[in-house]
Amino acid sequence: MVKDLQQKILKLKRERGVCILAHSYMPEDICEIADFSGDSYALAIKAKTVPQNTVVMCGVRFMAETVKMLSPHKKVILSNPSAGCPMAEQFGKDYILQLKREYPDHAVVAYVNTTAELKTVADVCVTSSSAVKICKAIPQKNIIFIPDINLGTFVKNNVPEKNFILVNGGCPVHSGITKEEASAVKNARPNALFLVHPECSPEVVALADFVGSTAGIMDFAQKSGAEEFIIGTENAIVEHLQYKCPHKKFYPLSKELICRDMKITTLPDVLNCVMGTGGEEIVLKESVRAAAVGCIEKMIEYGG
Ligand code: 13P
Ligand code: SF4
Repeated sequence: MVKDLQQKILKLKRERGVCILAHSYMPEDICEIADFSGDSYALAIKAKTVPQNTVVMCGVRFMAETVKMLSPHKKVILSNPSAGCPMAEQFGKDYILQLKREYPDHAVVAYVNTTAELKTVADVCVTSSSAVKICKAIPQKNIIFIPDINLGTFVKNNVPEKNFILVNGGCPVHSGITKEEASAVKNARPNALFLVHPECSPEVVALADFVGSTAGIMDFAQKSGAEEFIIGTENAIVEHLQYKCPHKKFYPLSKELICRDMKITTLPDVLNCVMGTGGEEIVLKESVRAAAVGCIEKMIEYGG
């Protein structure tokens, strides 16, 4: 059944010239039919170069908006209109403008998990895989980092030469994990390496053997000589790694590490998008797109 649906999507996307991009939090059956799957940074880079005129973004809204900003003449479809990212919606533009007025010599560095509107007031964007590198590279010594306080703390600890103002936002999925839970899983799996996404709290990050983006975690686990891993990010990564490395063992840090928004998209949704009858076409006001794209272009310039 799944295979039939996948074959249908693959055939239709070839016939209709549709590119399917999938974030690594998508389930295995969707990643299998994607032209490309990866972390937010890799998807942004890919979005600039895909040859097709229609792109279906299997992920959440800010990811589809990023594709649209970089490829304004393409038709960009979000796989399921309900797929948002709660962190991206946490702050409005006015709050950040107020901070900018209070701290005029600070650069606003925005995690890419932000709305298009918020990106219009950011100087540069970062992703979890590029944040440290970019904060080191930008000329400004003073940084307002939005919206994730956990990623911000991770960056601050790794870029001690700069000054950071952090705001109190974050991912409800990752930030809910406590250090007690993490210690308990580590104690139960003494031979496993602990791999963590920097959206987890600093106390959990402090217990990690490796901290990285979704793609970074997958890469580390595949290349590592170790046999067992505790995966401190969305549980789709456990599924992908188990497919890729059947002889290794992967344990979820918590059964609660499930992003509801990343689970909304199904294979039938993707089929409807490819047929042109589903998903949501991303439309951005040109004034917003033009004001927001600069910080993404800068991210690609510094992060490459
Ligand atoms: P990545 O930057 O690792 O792709 O993560 C995106 C995300 O939403 C993590 O929760
Ligand atoms: Fe947003 Fe968290 Fe879901 Fe990532 S895991 S998309 S940051 S809510």
